[in-house]
Amino acid sequence: MHLVVLVFASALSVATLALDNGLMRTPPMGWLAWERFRCDIDCEHDPKNCISENLFIDMADRLSEDGWRELGYVYVNIDDCWSSMERDKQGRLQPDPKRFPGGIHKLARYMHDRGLKLGIYGDMGTHTCGGYPGTPMDKIMIDALTFAEWEVDMFKYDGCYSNATEQEQGYPFMSKALNATGRPIGYSCSWPAYQGGLPPKVNYTQLGEICNLWRNYGDIQDSWDSVLSIIDWVFENQDVLISAAGPGRWNDPDMLIIGDFGLSMDQSRAQMALWAIMAAPLFMSNDLRTISSGARSILQNKMVISIDQDPMGIQGRRIVKEKSGIEVFWRPLSGNASALVFFSRRHDMPYRYQTSLSKLNYTTGSYKIIDVFTDKTVMLKDSTDFVVSVNPTGVVMWYVSAPAKLNLRQLYKGGKLHHHTYDDEENAIPRVFL
Ligand SMILES: *[C@@H]1O[C@H](CO)[C@@H](O)[C@H](O)[C@H]1NC(C)=O
Ligand SMILES: *[C@@H]1O[C@H](CO)[C@@H](O)[C@H](O)[C@H]1NC(C)=O
Ligand SMILES: *[C@@H]1O[C@H](CO)[C@@H](O)[C@H](O)[C@H]1NC(C)=O
Ligand SMILES: *[C@@H]1O[C@H](CO)[C@@H](O)[C@H](O)[C@H]1NC(C)=O
Ligand SMILES: *[C@@H]1O[C@H](CO)[C@@H](O)[C@H](O)[C@H]1NC(C)=O
Repeated sequence: MHLVVLVFASALSVATLALDNGLMRTPPMGWLAWERFRCDIDCEHDPKNCISENLFIDMADRLSEDGWRELGYVYVNIDDCWSSMERDKQGRLQPDPKRFPGGIHKLARYMHDRGLKLGIYGDMGTHTCGGYPGTPMDKIMIDALTFAEWEVDMFKYDGCYSNATEQEQGYPFMSKALNATGRPIGYSCSWPAYQGGLPPKVNYTQLGEICNLWRNYGDIQDSWDSVLSIIDWVFENQDVLISAAGPGRWNDPDMLIIGDFGLSMDQSRAQMALWAIMAAPLFMSNDLRTISSGARSILQNKMVISIDQDPMGIQGRRIVKEKSGIEVFWRPLSGNASALVFFSRRHDMPYRYQTSLSKLNYTTGSYKIIDVFTDKTVMLKDSTDFVVSVNPTGVVMWYVSAPAKLNLRQLYKGGKLHHHTYDDEENAIPRVFL
């Protein structure tokens, strides 16, 4: 099957219903506390890093002053360990008074004043994963109302200390409760991650109708092994996961750990590139106050962000798995463009991988290629062999324009692929090296 046919086929399959709150038509972007700051509540000894309103204010300042917000990174999301151990007299959740003296509503206002949004966290069980008060069935209405009163913009609903029956009731009920508040609140469901992430235990049709995004798999940790295990799981199960995703409904492979301690620059580019292929939410979990310029430039790369944010919202797939350890990933983009990622699992040295666009099933034509991380541009005919040099645990990522001088409507006349001739004076490059 040619790739262009695949585009049309997948475009049809995402015409499924999404949660009708009008939010997250492209994958949400922002910052999330958990991976980098965990449950550090020791503000006395670690005031800079503890889960407190100061941490979220610091991140909001960095997002709005260091060029992140303009690129789409607008959510500032609180994770576990924010609340007091006790509900208040009316039975409402309340923030820890020492660490959040201003309260959550004021923090939300702080975000909104800067063009940012605030996210908060809760758990379907008796307790959150960190042991704080949970939001089981009988607390769902009151907690949804509390979050709406605080003007929160997103809610992550974790699943520790709950069982499958409770989850079946609780996740849809929270969706209704959030809707009933009248405030559009992005809804992130950890449900599938607690049920193995796959059918028949997980019903992705239903998830897309009740949640804007969902975690399918285990938590990311600050290591390449962790990133690789997520990549492997997602692409091994791509046929199930791709059809689940679309505008308003996203698979969430978890946070970006670029700028932390565990990844080299090549591995950081690999995470960014493959998260964009996956149409993943882009939540950084790092310290934006001290991030290196190298990590920043990867996270702020406009072309990789625009690939992630492509309005068609079709999740990409792995199309080649070579014995050499090279893998090729592809994502269809709007305007008949596409993205390609060449990824190396090798541990020796940069590998010179030779292929052609026609071997990757691109239709006849001449394509403008932009290397996402070097900005190099080249014209490439589908039949021309090229070589990419891929670093160990690294990637080469391409934005591939629509084929020039080719009329696809004509190609598909009568529902059949017609071959087409065209002149290509401008592409006299015999062999391309990027
Ligand atoms: C190209 O299409 C052929 C025929 O459908 C298929 O067997 C092959 O796996 C495809 N290759 C890629 C890279 O998608
Ligand atoms: C609630 O759901 C209805 C029906 O699906 C939808 O029209 C409305 O926009 C939703 N409201 C919010 C706040 O999510
Ligand atoms: C799930 O928990 C509820 C209590 O909330 C309990 O009544 C039920 O038996 C449990 N179900 C399973 C399958 O463990
Ligand atoms: C999955 O959910 C959809 C929508 O809620 C429902 O129509 C369908 O029957 C469910 N599928 C299974 C196998 O339960
Ligand atoms: C793809 O190209 C065809 C033919 O040029 C055009 O009709 C169609 O609108 C394009 N699709 C998109 C999504 O731009």
